[in-house]
Amino acid sequence: MQKVPLLIIILILLFSCNGKNNSVKSNFSFAATQLTLAIRETEKGISENKAKNYVAPRTIDEAGKLVLSPPREWTSGFFAGELWYMYEFTQDDKWKKAAQQYTANIEQEKTNGTTHDMGFKLYCSIGNGFRLTKDEHYKKVLIEAAYTLASRFKPQAGIIRSWDHSNDKWQCPVIIDNMMNLELLFWAFKETQDSTFYKIAVSHANTTMKNHFRKDYSSYHVVDYDTISGNILSKSTHQGYSDESAWARGQAWGAYGFTMAYRQTGDTAYLNLAKHIVNYIFTNPNLPTDLIPYWDYNAPNIPNEPRDVSAATCTASALYELSLYDKANSTQYRNWADMILKNLSENYLAKKGGDYGFLLLHSVGSKPGNAEVDKPLVYADYYFLEALLRKKQIENN
Ligand code: GLY
Repeated sequence: MQKVPLLIIILILLFSCNGKNNSVKSNFSFAATQLTLAIRETEKGISENKAKNYVAPRTIDEAGKLVLSPPREWTSGFFAGELWYMYEFTQDDKWKKAAQQYTANIEQEKTNGTTHDMGFKLYCSIGNGFRLTKDEHYKKVLIEAAYTLASRFKPQAGIIRSWDHSNDKWQCPVIIDNMMNLELLFWAFKETQDSTFYKIAVSHANTTMKNHFRKDYSSYHVVDYDTISGNILSKSTHQGYSDESAWARGQAWGAYGFTMAYRQTGDTAYLNLAKHIVNYIFTNPNLPTDLIPYWDYNAPNIPNEPRDVSAATCTASALYELSLYDKANSTQYRNWADMILKNLSENYLAKKGGDYGFLLLHSVGSKPGNAEVDKPLVYADYYFLEALLRKKQIENN
């Protein structure tokens, strides 16, 4: 066999590594432009509406105006999270300062026990802040937040209650989204060694695994429990097309949530479920060829239905992580995630220097509620940056 000089091998490796990360770099460069604008627009919105206590951008409304979130909304932590991801990628203190500033405004939510959204709000913001800075103050806030979240656990049903609203419809509703909030509890267990956090998270994941999924591994959105007997009262939807349909973001929350739960526990039942959910998504005849799903896999007017980019970015991020655990399907998962990111960068980006600094267009908040339909959404952008970072990490390794 002919010997290839070492220098040539090193050069080939260097070039291929560079090439792989090019799309990550160009997307982060785009994000830098957009998020600089987003900070400016958000500051303006905050100062013009002081009484509203806004802390972050959320979306753009029908009139083309920027919509901001107060801390209590489930979307309040994603913007700070994006700024932490910018800092992680660039290592530029400018982004760290901005992230710290926006993170501070969400802290007060640590004692808000009226919703399950603590993970979305505090783990995506302060959690990333702690991961990157090891700031002890962040740690204290997160532990307090985890205790607040744990206080929503209903032992007879074995779950954390998601919502307190709509008492006429549900007694103790649990939505598939709630899987995402468990990461805060797993983190708190590692930091405090208080096994209560671990037991609650595992109980919630096991109960969700048992009750939320259909035979084809699509999931219900809402499962309602009787908190005295623990019995299931109903299975339904809130943001999907129908009770028996597969709401696109719900499938993404499930894929991401059970992949994360496997990372935290090593329980292969979670890994297998994540694989089945991904299989459901990618073998679905209603998944478009560009892999950006319609807002519901059973939406009635496909192909004339809005896409949900937020479901796609969350799925892409989950796929990169899953590719690390399921070696047999690793290449396939990475290819799907790469294709999602490529198609988003080519066809779904916001206007550079416009759209109030959002990164991606064409998400859906709630189609049945006629809210945020075919709009940019801050959480779509957050999982986009997370997926890009995961791609970079995998390719560098
Ligand atoms: N967690 C709320 C949503 O996904 O819309």
